[in-house]
Amino acid sequence: MTGLERSDTIPGEGEGGVFSQSWFPLCLSEELRPGSVIGVDFLGGRVVVFRGAAGGPAHVLSGYCVHVGADLSVGEVVGERLRCRFHGWEYEGGGGCAATGIGDPVPPRARLFRFPSVERHGIVWAFNGEEPLFDVPALPYSEEAMVVRRTVLEEMPVEPWLVQAHTMDLQHLSLPHDFTLDEDPNDSVRIEPWSVGFDLRARLRGGARFDVRVDIHGTNIFWQTGTLDGRWFFWIAPLNIPGPGRSRATFVYGARREDGEDTAATEAFLDRARTSMMALFDDDTPVLGTIRFRPGLLTRSDRTLARYLDYVRKYPRDNPARDFLT
Ligand code: FES
Ligand SMILES: [Fe+2]
Repeated sequence: MTGLERSDTIPGEGEGGVFSQSWFPLCLSEELRPGSVIGVDFLGGRVVVFRGAAGGPAHVLSGYCVHVGADLSVGEVVGERLRCRFHGWEYEGGGGCAATGIGDPVPPRARLFRFPSVERHGIVWAFNGEEPLFDVPALPYSEEAMVVRRTVLEEMPVEPWLVQAHTMDLQHLSLPHDFTLDEDPNDSVRIEPWSVGFDLRARLRGGARFDVRVDIHGTNIFWQTGTLDGRWFFWIAPLNIPGPGRSRATFVYGARREDGEDTAATEAFLDRARTSMMALFDDDTPVLGTIRFRPGLLTRSDRTLARYLDYVRKYPRDNPARDFLT
């Protein structure tokens, strides 16, 4: 029994106007210099991410001016405010309009939607909700103690929960990935309110040891920490939802600098970790680029996938910014 019948459908992102309530990566912290603004497609609409001139925290606001709708990403940051390029209305980081350009009184309801946001692991994240339901996960080491790399991928025509469904498809670890499993990872599955995960102890094709903890946070954040041949590394891949049927991944991965080790040696290990991970993507690409995914006829080995699909089906969805984003 898998607990999931073929007729149990999973709502698509944006269906009924709502999206998974999770943290989403909008841009890299390093892209957002003090006094700059970036426009990002998010949840079928548009947001702006800006940082005040003094270099404080990033702010994430709905992207269209509430005056007559100019795209605020073509505006400019003046001090700690974002100024619309059209008629000069000025917005504070909390979303409130503080001044009109021409000097008319600010209409009482003039404010943008402000998303909860945080900068962590070199990413500016926004939460789809009024208040976050959980925190962006932490890593066990500080950024200073590690060598870390970041890449933002091209957009893909697939929703994040579906990309992550393949992570929870434990049958595919043996085929096509050729893992030699120490034990059945189905036995270690964790289903938490805001994450699902399992432990994986295996040998990779070629014989390397691969001992990791894998979690999906929300429905869109791939989170893997553990060791490759005994050496610790992490690989996280949160996906944004630019709109229904779309996702955009950011890869962040890194390793801890060992005592007395120079950066080149840490980089060499990271190259190896990257090669191992990318080999997995190469195995998957011919299938995932062509699949028409449906929860079909699942078997015993699919029980983690079935539980994951059930988790996604029940996952909270909302869109409190819906009136502001388009
Ligand atoms: S549209 Fe932004 S100030 Fe007029
Ligand atoms: Fe895979």
